[in-house]
Amino acid sequence: MFRALLLAPPGAGKGTQGQRLADRHGVPHLATGDLLRDHVARGTDLGKQAKSHMDAGRLVPDDLVIDMVLRKIGGDGTGEILEGFLLDGFPRTLTQARFAYEWGLQFKRTFHAVIMLEVPEDELVRRLVQRGEEQGRSDDTEEVIRERLAVYEDNTAPLVDFYESRGILVRVDGTGTVDEVTERIEAGLEPMVPA
Ligand code: AP5
Ligand code: MG
Repeated sequence: MFRALLLAPPGAGKGTQGQRLADRHGVPHLATGDLLRDHVARGTDLGKQAKSHMDAGRLVPDDLVIDMVLRKIGGDGTGEILEGFLLDGFPRTLTQARFAYEWGLQFKRTFHAVIMLEVPEDELVRRLVQRGEEQGRSDDTEEVIRERLAVYEDNTAPLVDFYESRGILVRVDGTGTVDEVTERIEAGLEPMVPA
């Protein structure tokens, strides 16, 4: 069963590629940003706590995000534990990465691959500004996009070393068409993922 995660800056294509990879491999696409936006839209307690962080382009506190993910993948003592998944936007801090690693060891579900999409910063900003104009996502303003990129560099980029040292990092050029990127990811995954 396929277990992978997408580790990439805002606008690199985690959501776009994540949905395709999940469909191809027959696993759920679990995107913490989408899950949090759903909580905000429904006005849950978590949504109320998360909203100001998200609107500012900062991270939602680790404990809140970890609880939310545990409820989805299982292991909090209630319900089944998922065998396969494509995580998008989680882990995003070293604390989250250590939690995920311990979870994988505990339930014999360590990750097969971590897909890192590489896209130049000016292209990231261009994509997100365009999406902000077209779809109005509240954090797609130029100022908040810059903050999200800085937060990625400070908190999430260090995870590249964490996963590289475990031998599961797959670096993929995230520029070009969506189809081209998908094919590059699949080629990179081939040696990593059980058939
Ligand atoms: P999240 O929703 O994860 O946002 P993000 O990381 O900023 O990334 P995006 O969703 O904006 O981009 P993406 O990489 O998914 O790219 P996409 O495919 O959409 O997180 C939002 C917030 O939630 C965070 O700031 C934080 O507050 C909170 N949060 C989430 N997870 C958290 C966690 N684990 N811990 C703490 N807080 C957390 O593509 C972008 C655009 O480009 C789209 O318009 C798309 O159509 C276009 N595009 C895609 N591919 C291509 C291509 N090949 N060529 C041209 N355009 C393309
Ligand atoms: Mg996304």
